[in-house]
Amino acid sequence: MRHLLSAGDLSLDEATLVLDTAKELAQVGGRSVKKLPTLRGRTVVNLFYEDSTRTRISFEAAAKRMSADVINFSAKGSSVSKGESLKDTALTLQAMGADGVVIRHGASGAARRLSNWVDGAVLNAGDGTHEHPTQALLDAYTMRERMGRLDGLRVAIVGDILHSRVARSNVLLLRTLGAHVTLVAPPTLLPVSVAGWPCEVSYDLDEVLPKSDVVMMLRVQAERMNDAFFPSAREYTRRYGLDGDRFAQLPEHAVVMHPGPMIRGMEISAEVADSPRSTIVEQVTNGVSVRMAVLYLLLGGSESGIGN
Ligand code: NCD
Repeated sequence: MRHLLSAGDLSLDEATLVLDTAKELAQVGGRSVKKLPTLRGRTVVNLFYEDSTRTRISFEAAAKRMSADVINFSAKGSSVSKGESLKDTALTLQAMGADGVVIRHGASGAARRLSNWVDGAVLNAGDGTHEHPTQALLDAYTMRERMGRLDGLRVAIVGDILHSRVARSNVLLLRTLGAHVTLVAPPTLLPVSVAGWPCEVSYDLDEVLPKSDVVMMLRVQAERMNDAFFPSAREYTRRYGLDGDRFAQLPEHAVVMHPGPMIRGMEISAEVADSPRSTIVEQVTNGVSVRMAVLYLLLGGSESGIGN
């Protein structure tokens, strides 16, 4: 495999290789000198057309820890129409000889399109409402670390599934890794296509929580909504928010995840977010190791590619 465009492109062996490689590379984060020479002389471009805190910083830290040269390109505010500007930018990157391009874009399919225009590896860091494969990999890594396994794990993903690339990538990857996913959302926040996804669907959070090992809360993506998808924020929180009372319905071993950014008091209470059974901060730490692994496997040389 030359690119990482969709979590669904990864076989069980490839996904496991990423997680195992990330585990080895995680040791670098614990050293006082957090640097490996592995990607010296390689250039990684971060091409971000959409806002991002964690993902962008994480990819930058990952590339730098492997000694790659990093170029950050923030395209926000560009007045050129999206399709044109993406192709023009791709040609520029191609001319500069980028070995890897990390792209976040508001249009679903943008990463795949870019991969037709550049020779380097394309890493999808979120394309519209479509996919966010490195988020799914870091989530799987975090689950494996906390729970000791992925096979047979019961994972509830709760909230704005309709607009969530995180949910879609997680459903695809977790299915490959043998976990069972239940999506929980109001009917208006589920895509019509969900009937064909390899997971179950419920509208009732209270019914699903006692049967879950992992509960992943998602932000309501107001920036992608131009209609009212639910009566009010308070009503949403009452039915789909994770507060202390609902948290108490989870099995004792269960953990709570969130990809960030979270809206405290909306989909998750501060009490739950800051609980020792919340993995939110660990997810950020693990994100760097997982992105190091993906960069290493895609750019690290002919003998190390994912699949090749
Ligand atoms: C998510 C995203 O951008 O898709 N955040 C992330 O990458 N950590 C989810 C979100 O924006 O709510």
